Amino acid sequence: MKVLSVVGARPQFVKLGPVARALAQAGGVEHVIVHTGQHYDAAMSDVFFEDLQIPAPDVHLGVGSGSHGAQTGAMLAGLDPVLQEHRPDWVLVYGDTNSTLAAAVSAVKLHLPIAHLEAGLRSFNRRMPEEHNRVLTDHAADLLLAPTQVAMDHLAHEGLAQRSVLVGDVMTDVCYLVREQVADRALTDVIGAANLEGIDLEDPYLLATIHRPDNTDSPQRLRAIVEALRDLPAPVVLLAHPRLVAKATEYGIELFGGTLHGTSPLAYPQMVRAVMGAAGVVTDSGGLQKEAFLLRTPCTTIRPETEWVETLEAGWNILDNDLTQVREVAVREAPFGAQATPYGDGHAADLVAKVLLRRAG
Ligand code: UD1
Repeated sequence: MKVLSVVGARPQFVKLGPVARALAQAGGVEHVIVHTGQHYDAAMSDVFFEDLQIPAPDVHLGVGSGSHGAQTGAMLAGLDPVLQEHRPDWVLVYGDTNSTLAAAVSAVKLHLPIAHLEAGLRSFNRRMPEEHNRVLTDHAADLLLAPTQVAMDHLAHEGLAQRSVLVGDVMTDVCYLVREQVADRALTDVIGAANLEGIDLEDPYLLATIHRPDNTDSPQRLRAIVEALRDLPAPVVLLAHPRLVAKATEYGIELFGGTLHGTSPLAYPQMVRAVMGAAGVVTDSGGLQKEAFLLRTPCTTIRPETEWVETLEAGWNILDNDLTQVREVAVREAPFGAQATPYGDGHAADLVAKVLLRRAG
């Protein structure tokens, strides 16, 4: 069986890690990795391949940034000949980015079977580019690999139950694995002094990321968020995505100073260790909300809704789009009681490999 994975953005490299390992262990699988180049900074891309021991991409399209149409179109033009050349048994796509949509459109036109990992997630917010991407990709795909029962229910409501399989969440696989590797290591060792200038990690700190267009692309909104972060009751390590840095620079908003410590994005093991050590996470990232939940760190999400609704149960995650609660809730006690495990036991990638093998052809 030949599987061709298309990835392009940071969270997809994280998911590719366990899937590449499971496909290699399954035996008899040729795995071709195509990197669209949507994320190209070393800290957003290469470092994930190194840390998660992912084979180097077989093809790199080097597409880079652009408007949604220009970026997606450039990927489509680049992918067509690659998919034609390989004609894999599965084109495997990883979530909701422009790279996923481009690969799905290219594959469906070439009559190649598409498997969509992380199928069925919905925010029901049509302003999000990810929402268009995931809905369109689910309806183009032949095999929908859903991470949760809620995702399965969404697919069933859209008439896609026949193509859907509940496999669990491969991000849980990698998160648990890396948690074991970094748990006993000192925070400063793992994160590195360069990222911690001015912060004493002996004291409680908050970890923050902000990158969504709805939060970064208007000066008023971004200023309100940065002011709210400065007003939190503990120092904030703000891991600044390139989009955030670009927009803050454009609007003249300072991401460093006082209790706010804007710094570069972290590699995956560093991120996991930093979440484990934090008093709380404040974010608009989908992946980080879930990692906080898996690592048992309370999270406050600066969005009106979440597609990872399971994180809201028991109060592990609180939504605060209008920034009225974050000051009170960002540092809070972890919830009591039994811990639900809606994202699986850390073996989803093996199941993904099995389902692909069983359904190939
Ligand atoms: C993309 C995904 C989003 C995911 C996020 C993770 C889409 C529509 N969005 O959003 O779902 O949560 O990745 O990070 O696919 N840039 C750099 N260097 C890089 C990458 C980006 O400088 O390595 C800058 C560019 O100015 C670019 C901007 O960041 O225009 C945004 O990057 P882009 O890939 O368009 O979207 P993200 O916001 O990263």
